[in-house]
Amino acid sequence: MQSKVFFLAVIAIVSFYSCGTPEESETPPTKSSWSPKMDEPSELAQIMRDLHEEGLQRKASLEKGQLYSGSVDNLLKMIAAAPTEPHMKGPAFEPHALAFNASYGAIQSATTVSEQIDAHNNLVKSCVACHTNFCQGPISRIELLYVN
Ligand code: HEC
Repeated sequence: MQSKVFFLAVIAIVSFYSCGTPEESETPPTKSSWSPKMDEPSELAQIMRDLHEEGLQRKASLEKGQLYSGSVDNLLKMIAAAPTEPHMKGPAFEPHALAFNASYGAIQSATTVSEQIDAHNNLVKSCVACHTNFCQGPISRIELLYVN
């Protein structure tokens, strides 16, 4: 019984970290204190971190009036990637991932800054749409990616 309570507490802490309120992870740990053993992201969480990082870079570039040409090549791996917790993925996950992928394509094919800003903001919408279903915690951080 006691070990079951402990187990549930661990699960609660782990899910809080990944999909809980963003405050916890607001200050990224410094390189020197970062310990991969303590903080090993799931395969899916790692893809998400790359996407978030890339979104920040694209936003900065667009705000300077420059087209952004980088891309993350592991997008469709999202569909097969293991999440931190099985409940973080459900039947609606794949359609969201495919919609996301289509929005991502529009970013790559944009030829003007204003076109890419529209495509970027559409992509952020599809991040939020999937997160509304599967992982609410990071939504306020994701919304900061919008370019006005
Ligand atoms: C198809 C659904 C889906 C889409 C689209 C999606 N996410 Fe996620 N995201 C998730 C799920 C599920 C998790 C939880 C992953 C885990 O913990 O294993 C997650 C986790 C995250 C995390 C937390 C990662 C961590 O450190 O634990 C961030 C940040 C994030 N997503 C940002 C984004 C951004 C930015 C986009 C758009 C560019 C995006 N996501 C698009 C489903 C999605």
